[in-house]
Amino acid sequence: MSEQAPTIVMVLAAGGGTRMRSKTMKVLHPLAGRTLLGHALHAARGISPEHVVAVIGNQREQVAEHLAQVDPDVIQAVQEEQLGTGHAVAVGLASLGDEAVGSVVVLYGDVPLLEPETLERFVEDHRQHGRTLSVLTAKVANPHGYGRVVRGADGGVVEIVEERDATDEHRRIDEINSGILAFDLAWAREALRTLGNDNAQGEYYLTDLIGLAVAEGREVGAYEIADAVQTEGVNTRVQLARLAAEANRRIVERHMLAGVSVVDPATTWIDVDVSIGPDTTILPGTQILGATSIGEDALIGPDCTLQDMEIGDGASVVRTHASLSVIEAEATVGPFSYLRPGTTVGAGGKLGAFVEAKNTRLAPGAKVPHLSYVGDGDIGEGANIGAGSIFANYDGVKKNRTTIGAHARISCNNTFVAPVSVGEGAFTGAGATIREDVPPGALAVSAGSQRTIEGWVARKRPGTPAAEAAARAAAGDQSDDAQESPT
Ligand code: UD1
Ligand code: CA
Repeated sequence: MSEQAPTIVMVLAAGGGTRMRSKTMKVLHPLAGRTLLGHALHAARGISPEHVVAVIGNQREQVAEHLAQVDPDVIQAVQEEQLGTGHAVAVGLASLGDEAVGSVVVLYGDVPLLEPETLERFVEDHRQHGRTLSVLTAKVANPHGYGRVVRGADGGVVEIVEERDATDEHRRIDEINSGILAFDLAWAREALRTLGNDNAQGEYYLTDLIGLAVAEGREVGAYEIADAVQTEGVNTRVQLARLAAEANRRIVERHMLAGVSVVDPATTWIDVDVSIGPDTTILPGTQILGATSIGEDALIGPDCTLQDMEIGDGASVVRTHASLSVIEAEATVGPFSYLRPGTTVGAGGKLGAFVEAKNTRLAPGAKVPHLSYVGDGDIGEGANIGAGSIFANYDGVKKNRTTIGAHARISCNNTFVAPVSVGEGAFTGAGATIREDVPPGALAVSAGSQRTIEGWVARKRPGTPAAEAAARAAAGDQSDDAQESPT
């Protein structure tokens, strides 16, 4: 904790969010790779408070489980009945014990674009002015639904009036309460006890603290930010999509300014924790998700979905769906490749068109260029797997491994009945079914020599389209013979 850090950041997340019309709690909906609540917690942690308290209530098992996953140190305070934001903060403070002192910052769990730097400046402003209470405000084009910041003749904040309690004059005010407040803990503990709920919604309004503090002659002030979108909350899926697009626009712009070429920002979606090296180019229709990291000079896209991937310098990944895998430097993947968890494509290697890989390691320079399934395999350095080969990894009960030695040459359309291994530098023949280990340097063939049985279709499959086609071909041969006869 730095010396200026507030004691507590409290994140309010007990409200129902019924307008989402969702089985999933509102604050657990995702945006740019984190939940809405995850964004609020990130902003909270960004100012290094002593404690973070989350006030939860609706669907609280879901929310508690998520908190335990993403930030187990958060103190969870349960607001059994949602009696208003003032009540929520009182519940949060009660979870701390009476000895807690210092300052409190209140955030909302459904305001995802607030940046830690903004919060830091807000807290700094609050501290510098030695206020009892500060409120973060913004001027917006459409203030409908928000609490309005009422200022006195001297410009000082007098009170906050909720939309439903507002007069026509109040409604014309375009400066809104973001909901983000900072205040003195000891003062608020007492002041919250005096809050009433005599208002249009019958709720205990946190915003009434402002009028209370002013009436007591305490220092109260507003910190207005120009970037109003940072204060916007999500109530519906329409707002969720709009804020997600705005978050994405900001993320993509940040990468471009850091040296990444993004050909079509509108169809490129990058989650907030993704890292991308300079001079990498992202082509249209690409989603880069989760904890993905991409090196320098890579070419990604078009049309890739990459989740939790590690991609090296100079790699090329085209029309590929991939998760929890590694593509090393200078490797090429795609088009139309599917990398499932646990795959590594080694440096300079290739995983080509219509190849599915799972839990398989390609050593540097190894190639699976076409139309194959490689599951639970180890493919040695410089080995090449011919088109249409399959690692038959599943015996119906358990998964087994296929091992291909360095510089082995696997022909087309091979099936490897795992567990099985092919030694270093060995060759296999076309269409081989490899059931037994092949020693280094050997050639393994398993397909017998071709046997052709003339007229089999006419005898065994009479009346089928195949038999008719064969018959036409035979007749055609005869008429060709006739035409070839001398005129
Ligand atoms: C609130 C503010 C309003 C502000 C707006 C900004 C009050 C009275 N009003 O209004 O001035 O402009 O936010 O978005 O504070 N919550 C609880 N427990 C409760 C009630 C709410 O945890 O009992 C949580 C909600 O989950 C949500 C936040 O508090 O995260 C805000 O609640 P909401 O009901 O959305 O407040 P608004 O009416 O939007
Ligand atoms: Ca709201």
